[in-house]
Amino acid sequence: MKPYYITTAIDYTNAAPHIGHAYEKVLADVMARFQRLNGREVYFLTGVDQHGQKVQKKAQEAGKEPQQFVDEITAHFTALWEKLGVKYDSFALTTAPPHKRVVQAILTRLHEAGQLYKASRRGHYSVRQEQFLTDKERGEDGKFGDEWGEVIELEESNWYFKLSEHVDWLKGYIRSHPDFIFPAHRAHDVINALEGSGGIDLCISRPKERLTWGIPLPFDPDFVNYVWFDALVNYISYAGYLADECGNTGLPDFKTLWPANAHVIGKDILSPPHAIYWPTMLHAMGFSDADIPRLVVHGWWNVKGSKMSKSLGNVIDPNVLADTFTPDGLRFYLMKDIATGYDADFSDERLLMAYNKELGGGLGNLLNRSLNMANRYRNGVVKIGGHDDDICVSLRETVIEAYTAYPEKMESWAIHEGIEEAWKIVTAANGFIEQTQPFKLAKDESQAARLDAVLHHLAESLAHVSVLLDPVMPVMCGRIREQLGWALPDSFKLTDLRWGLLPDGHQLGLGTPLFPRVEVASEEGAGAKARP
Ligand code: ME8
Ligand code: MG
Repeated sequence: MKPYYITTAIDYTNAAPHIGHAYEKVLADVMARFQRLNGREVYFLTGVDQHGQKVQKKAQEAGKEPQQFVDEITAHFTALWEKLGVKYDSFALTTAPPHKRVVQAILTRLHEAGQLYKASRRGHYSVRQEQFLTDKERGEDGKFGDEWGEVIELEESNWYFKLSEHVDWLKGYIRSHPDFIFPAHRAHDVINALEGSGGIDLCISRPKERLTWGIPLPFDPDFVNYVWFDALVNYISYAGYLADECGNTGLPDFKTLWPANAHVIGKDILSPPHAIYWPTMLHAMGFSDADIPRLVVHGWWNVKGSKMSKSLGNVIDPNVLADTFTPDGLRFYLMKDIATGYDADFSDERLLMAYNKELGGGLGNLLNRSLNMANRYRNGVVKIGGHDDDICVSLRETVIEAYTAYPEKMESWAIHEGIEEAWKIVTAANGFIEQTQPFKLAKDESQAARLDAVLHHLAESLAHVSVLLDPVMPVMCGRIREQLGWALPDSFKLTDLRWGLLPDGHQLGLGTPLFPRVEVASEEGAGAKARP
């Protein structure tokens, strides 16, 4: 089977990473880990988008060379992925020579194929923001707002891609491929946008007088490439597209890897970049319908109902949260408190609750109690085949139902429901302790066989939980298994899950708390709010 090729948006290196960036990369990482656990070979690409006006401007303000500036910001992103356990196979840098060569080779081909033309257009130009404005930038009164400063009429020559030649194909493709965009309802926005602007070609250049920080057009040295054209190409340049022609080595075999199974992106960059520019670019390059990638569009994290923004001062720094709640604690919250495709509201209180109540009080407590009792009463040795009853049967059924339902939820990006399945086991096992009262059984010699069964059921349930939650909390689940004295056998797959993971006579380890309680330091929640 073809490897599962998953990519994310590549983040702009004009500012440090925020919680939205972290969410997207963790989401892709969870899917990559799930696919591997499900026995699939995976190639996971993420990276950074280093060119363009925003970056040039920020570098200038900082008094730095653009390359130095982006290198420094890039280091913040890679350090965060290291901290959060986002384990990619390859990291795209759009200023890297191999990527630039592929972008230029594509531009040359499209130029030779007559897909690009030069034209002079008149338009409204914001001097302050150094960009052309369209009707989208007009306020409700039809005028350009103060934020644009002086707006002049300007005539400028640029290179255009004949996007309009591919619009009919794209409309047909979207209608006949309901899987192209997930969730499906987002496809309507794209169709609407196409109806509105179907006849307009895409400007793919910027004159060097106003932007130098980009990839030069190979056939016209007065221009650099528009940043979106450059950025989208990372999905194929880093997958080995035109590698031989460009002298690029050490990359995957493109034919084996392509098309991407998922481009994981936020809703703001669906239309037009990913749903209009990208497929029409690929179509113009000669890609067939079967070679169009799939888009997985996630929603946004807002803060108290508002969009995160520098001006509101509500930008959430994932580093601070990971330091307070552990990286896996943050991953857990980011995966459970949102449904893929929809927005969610970031909340200190809910994060604190997820960590203290669910991880600490639910899962951590279960592990601790189970291991402490097993060690106290049985020196940590699991004995199978003790006296069984309906309560035991019911817990076993919960476990089996959970691991049966789980793969489909995860496969369809309902990560929060995958977590819920694992949590049914946690809840049932905690209830099981209340029902069976092992501390009482331990005092009654005639209940010895029943106590063995109870302790075995708890350990076995925890082994299952440690597998199902592994994609979301890889470090903590590894520690759970360490405490259980159990390691995942080599090439273990989800389909290997069955009641009976731990053998008779298995020696459990000792329990140490995994999720030490986080105390609320002040009225501000757990000190979780980032101060940028
Ligand atoms: O758009 N919640 O980069 P970017 C969830 N360089 N996701 C969010 C978010 C939030 N509050 N804010 C941003 C770019 N994102 C381009 C992409 S791809 C070839 C080029 C998501 O740094 C956003 O939707 O502005 C996007 O998917 C990603 O973070 C990077 O955003
Ligand atoms: Mg953005």
